[in-house]
Amino acid sequence: MLGKLMRKKPIVPDIKMSDQIALLKSRKIPAHVAIIMDGNGRWAKQRNLPRVAGHHEGMKTVRRITRVASDLGIKVLTLYAFSTENWKRPKVEIDFLMKLPGEFLSTYLPELIEQNVKVEMIGNFSMLPDHTKDAIRRAMEETASNDGMTLNFAMNYGSRLELVESVKKIANLVAEGKLAIEDIDETQIESHLMTAHLPEPDLLIRTSGEVRLSNFMLWQLAYAEFTFTDVLWPDFDELCMFDAIKDFQSRSRRFGSVEGEKEA
Ligand code: FPP
Repeated sequence: MLGKLMRKKPIVPDIKMSDQIALLKSRKIPAHVAIIMDGNGRWAKQRNLPRVAGHHEGMKTVRRITRVASDLGIKVLTLYAFSTENWKRPKVEIDFLMKLPGEFLSTYLPELIEQNVKVEMIGNFSMLPDHTKDAIRRAMEETASNDGMTLNFAMNYGSRLELVESVKKIANLVAEGKLAIEDIDETQIESHLMTAHLPEPDLLIRTSGEVRLSNFMLWQLAYAEFTFTDVLWPDFDELCMFDAIKDFQSRSRRFGSVEGEKEA
């Protein structure tokens, strides 16, 4: 069963990349794609390199996948770059991961601007080192008026923490007499999440053969389609992205109803 679920590296097709994009775009493209970028450490280990070399290669995949996601007409691409649990990693690895947004954005910001990409972030911003905050803040400011794809980094993000914060905000509104308990509904909760302004993810991709959510967008992924590949994140390329979209397009989304496919 799991063998069938797990996707492999696709075979290079005999058709041009632009034609593949056009073909995929003739069917429904997920508006919001969320990716758990996993397998950087194993990629490095396979090559006898330090783990951070895998993260650095993973950063190059971020560039590739951002570009192709934008070409595919995806509206929001959320990338799980650092979780609230990742602080448990060795300091040298954390320091490296915290430097990656700076390197990525200083190298590729002009390209993102040219692609009309808007950079955003979800997660606890205040706990990040100053240099990480500066890089993200600058990228967000410089791309704020772009209206193409949103590249949303989940950085120091944890879904349970996000839900706890949301519940606290709602409890405060109740305590201040601004909200009645009977008016607490799904919309209220959603409106207090960090993703309140974004559509729900339609597709979740996890690389590296792992099949779990790791505290990622637990509320928001309620009706997303999931696709798993055994490809390690640094090896995840445009063809893997096309394969994930094809997998999404083969699903019938009913959102709990018994009717045929519904529009997302
Ligand atoms: C999980 O793989 C990956 C991470 C915790 C970090 C992901 C970060 C990137 C891909 C680069 C982000 C780039 C920017 C621009 C922010 P792992 O290290 O747990 O892999 P393993 O399971 O093989 O050890």
